[in-house]
Amino acid sequence: MAEKTKRSGKAKPNSAGPKPSEGEVRKAVRERYGALALTPSSCCGSKTETMCGCAEIYPKAEIISLPSEAVAVSAGCGNPTAIANLKPGMTVVDLGSGGGIDCFLSARKVGPKGKVYGIDATPEMIHRARRTAEENGYDNVEFRLGEIEHMPLDDHVADVVISNCVINLSPDKEQVFKEAFRVLRPGGKLAVSDIVLLKDLPVEVAKDLRAWSECVSGAVSEKEYIGAMRKAGFCDIKVQERAIYTHEQLSDYLKDTDMGGISKIAGMDLANLVASYKISAAKAKK
Ligand SMILES: C[S@@+](CC[C@H](N)C(=O)[O-])C[C@H]1O[C@@H](n2cnc3c(N)ncnc32)[C@H](O)[C@@H]1O
Repeated sequence: MAEKTKRSGKAKPNSAGPKPSEGEVRKAVRERYGALALTPSSCCGSKTETMCGCAEIYPKAEIISLPSEAVAVSAGCGNPTAIANLKPGMTVVDLGSGGGIDCFLSARKVGPKGKVYGIDATPEMIHRARRTAEENGYDNVEFRLGEIEHMPLDDHVADVVISNCVINLSPDKEQVFKEAFRVLRPGGKLAVSDIVLLKDLPVEVAKDLRAWSECVSGAVSEKEYIGAMRKAGFCDIKVQERAIYTHEQLSDYLKDTDMGGISKIAGMDLANLVASYKISAAKAKK
């Protein structure tokens, strides 16, 4: 039985040996999503692509209206635009925009007078998303290469910050929320979908680098996640949805990781360990 480990935003050792270092995590995540960006296959046809299942996540009418190049590499675990209450003219920032699916959805909602910035640390994803925007005439969307812990954006530019299955991947979640708070204008809103830990993961999963880049082992508890939001200054924090993963769902995601590849997960009970959350929060007006 794994000893209970107190998890924090930073990668740190646990009882079963060292967890991946911050540098290892960032490199593994960039490689994982760099490879995805170069793959034309559709995640909607295969649940083995990260926590994704975009056919189940977005209304069909929204999916078919979007560029297929973005849908094909969608890797989210929810739909933050569903709780973002976007209006024409707003400025939106998407943390970890990937192929741009939520940026393109937001772009429709904010219209030509609005603006959407997608931030991503993987150059291949940024290139793909920029090409998709250009080829499909999305003039109000701009993709910028950078880490969400140090965003290439001025203070107070955004009315709304969204993010879909990304903050769990960061080795420094407190810094991500601080940055989200910095780029939001007073009175602005945060709307995220993300993976949250319900119980300690089996040690083999917790220290597996591929499981981190598959959006599992970087996840932290609801208390820690919301604590990091609060510490950054957010108020009015509301968990809008918790969708708990079954054993079958989680083992499907993990089966292509190092540990899945050598069947270490075969005897594990992976039910009720993680959930996909939708959380909203606000930056006070003053
Ligand atoms: C699971 S994918 C989700 C992509 C997109 N949000 C979606 O729903 O399709 C995670 C994305 O976040 C990016 N990412 C991960 N960690 C990041 C960080 N610290 N800074 C910026 N981007 C990051 C990855 O490059 C990848 O494109």
